[in-house]
Amino acid sequence: MSLVIFFTLLKIAFSADADLPNDAPKLAAKLGFGWNLGNALESCSDSNSASETSWGNPATTQALIDAVKKAGFNTVRIPSAWSGYIENTTTYKIKDSWLKRVSEVVNYTIKNDMYAILNIHWDGGWLEENPTFDKQKEVNAKQKALWTQIATYFEGYDEHLLFAGTNEVRKDYGTPSDENIEVQNSYLQTFVDAVRATGGNNKIRNLVVQGYNTNIEHTVNYLRIPSDNATHRLLVEIHFYDPYDFAGEGNSQNYLWGKSYANSGHVSSWGQESWVDEAFGMLKKNFVDKQYPVILGEYGAVHRTHLSGDDLVQHTAARKYYLNYVTQAALTNGVVPYYWDNGGTGDNGFGLIDRNNYSQAFPDDIKAITSAKR
Ligand SMILES: *[C@@H]1O[C@H](CO)[C@@H](O)[C@H](O)[C@H]1NC(C)=O
Ligand SMILES: *[C@@H]1O[C@H](CO)[C@@H](O)[C@H](O)[C@H]1NC(C)=O
Ligand SMILES: *[C@@H]1O[C@H](CO)[C@@H](O)[C@H](O)[C@H]1NC(C)=O
Ligand SMILES: *[C@@H]1O[C@H](CO)[C@@H](O)[C@H](O)[C@H]1NC(C)=O
Repeated sequence: MSLVIFFTLLKIAFSADADLPNDAPKLAAKLGFGWNLGNALESCSDSNSASETSWGNPATTQALIDAVKKAGFNTVRIPSAWSGYIENTTTYKIKDSWLKRVSEVVNYTIKNDMYAILNIHWDGGWLEENPTFDKQKEVNAKQKALWTQIATYFEGYDEHLLFAGTNEVRKDYGTPSDENIEVQNSYLQTFVDAVRATGGNNKIRNLVVQGYNTNIEHTVNYLRIPSDNATHRLLVEIHFYDPYDFAGEGNSQNYLWGKSYANSGHVSSWGQESWVDEAFGMLKKNFVDKQYPVILGEYGAVHRTHLSGDDLVQHTAARKYYLNYVTQAALTNGVVPYYWDNGGTGDNGFGLIDRNNYSQAFPDDIKAITSAKR
């Protein structure tokens, strides 16, 4: 072999293309059912005393992620806090110990041949709650500093690791103003630019950008995809808890969902099957069909174990139907679903897997998700 050929082969073997052969559409096709490691690494407090256990879950272990894999999931979203793990508020230097701990958890997934999505989550709100001109400069400086460090630390990881720039950035829960959209978009552009600038694998790593408040309609109406030098390496993220009085408000009277219960008096006035179909259909038309895969980064429904008798029986059936229906609508429209598991397996919890003994707290609900057809 000539030296020229040898060095050419060597270059290919060690290039980013070898580690990350799949662009976003191809990678999305490899992502199966997703699961959120919720209320864990994103736990934080107002003071600088963050800890991954401060929201009540035990520290994450390899055994937990093994149980997630065994349950049928092949990708894990890892919401993460950073602000409470900074050692210098001028440079925003992240503590080495925290980067190491996050990488340990990322490794639990990758060792299982699963895919991981790492983000900057709520994180006390500095990024999430400030899409306004008065905060734009300060937030972008911090966003750039954090993503530069995170991306640098994880640069050597192959395509099993994706980064997601933000979580649910919003001013409030209403319709965004032009200002809100412009500033939110700048937070995404800063993320993409900061990651790409660290070079190596990060030049083409698949990155996830979020619509305003991860709301489907706002995403369809307002998301401006950041400019990116890499081709087809961006995914779009939305979340879905509609109708919230069923999915998220455990104490509301609307504990049933779907056509079987339409006349029960316990079904929300909106957000039923036709809305699910319409919402996910919009994502397919506006993004998936245009080479921007979409992840449903969070969805789920609380389990109201305070109910009893027939109410509980019907609620349990409705919840299974909802989880299956939403998962199926996502898959049918090319959207990758990530169930929101916050570890809470008691009343009004989203947990599916017990974080202490790794058993399946609600095996039927897990099956409702993983029996949807790809
Ligand atoms: C933080 O970084 C700045 C800029 O490098 C430096 O001047 C300052 O001393 C650092 N502060 C601490 C607490 O280390
Ligand atoms: C994570 O895995 C990488 C690649 O195998 C390894 O280099 C690194 O030391 C691991 N990190 C930790 C904290 O175990
Ligand atoms: C993207 O490409 C343009 C033109 O080649 C270059 O000027 C710019 O610095 C690149 N941006 C990044 C983030 O690498
Ligand atoms: C796991 O813990 C839960 C809650 O304490 C308990 O109900 C369940 O039986 C345990 N499962 C196993 C397999 O130990």
